[in-house]
Amino acid sequence: MKILFTYDMFREGFASLEERYEVTFPEGRDFTYQEILKRIPEYDVLCSMFDFPVNKELIDQAPRLQLIANYAVGYNNIDVAYAVEKGITVTNTPGPVTAPTANLALGLMLDTARRITECDRKLRTLEKQMKIGILENLGVHITGQTLGIIGMGRIGKALCKRACACGMEVIYHNRRQLSLEEETTLNVTYVTKEELLSKADFVSLNAPYTPETFHLIGEKELNFMKPSAILINTARGPLVDEHALVKALQEGKIHGAGLDVFEFGDYPLPELLALENVVLTPHIGTQTTHARLEMARAVSDNVIGFIERDRPVSRIYKP
Ligand code: GLV
Repeated sequence: MKILFTYDMFREGFASLEERYEVTFPEGRDFTYQEILKRIPEYDVLCSMFDFPVNKELIDQAPRLQLIANYAVGYNNIDVAYAVEKGITVTNTPGPVTAPTANLALGLMLDTARRITECDRKLRTLEKQMKIGILENLGVHITGQTLGIIGMGRIGKALCKRACACGMEVIYHNRRQLSLEEETTLNVTYVTKEELLSKADFVSLNAPYTPETFHLIGEKELNFMKPSAILINTARGPLVDEHALVKALQEGKIHGAGLDVFEFGDYPLPELLALENVVLTPHIGTQTTHARLEMARAVSDNVIGFIERDRPVSRIYKP
């Protein structure tokens, strides 16, 4: 079996693959799309990163390809329908991604609500000119407030548990309603998207990026939200119409936003940088050393499980 990696990092997490198979890494960098296109005809397995496009053109150049093992829970970078049509298995890494992403979502909620980064920024840059007093840096409460989670998969549920521990009430909207048993265990209530948007003090997006979730939050949805509401996105940038969000924030239609992902690539729209009530992080949902290593191990397990049939594989059946 010949395995091709588009990236090179956390090699200790891939040791079990290197021991067993012929593995090619780009050595200290990423392979470009053109380099992968040239090499792929010779390989049985492609280990891709969440921002590497695995499209029809690439799949058509891969007569030997049996498995695409993605390093991520999200797989919007892969044309899964086409891969499945060609008999190629696609896998992802949901396990190690869940806790760190839910933790970051909670962190962004707290940061935006309590103005942590804003205060830090002001203290550093304005030093003594910063107004410090008992009413100067008032934030928003989390305890007793309502969190609306859109996308109640693994990460949504993990965030729900954390929010409940903070004393929040949680409502959710999802493609399918959870069983009564699960709703009771999680202590959550299913509502329509409109109801969620109009009731929630915090709205967190935890849905995958699909054609159906593109601009899940646009001008219309932002108009439904409370002027005091805070929007959190740790999922994928295009779930939010970023131009509409900028306008809503500038006009005070919503109170704030905590964003780990952006619509137009790695960087937010420049207008967002000028807003104090926005906390921005560069797609760090799973950026802990522990999570990165565990994700590498999960990719290795998916590859070995697929080849040897000796362990479970996290397989994606349809887009
Ligand atoms: C990270 O963004 C992931 O999809 O795992």
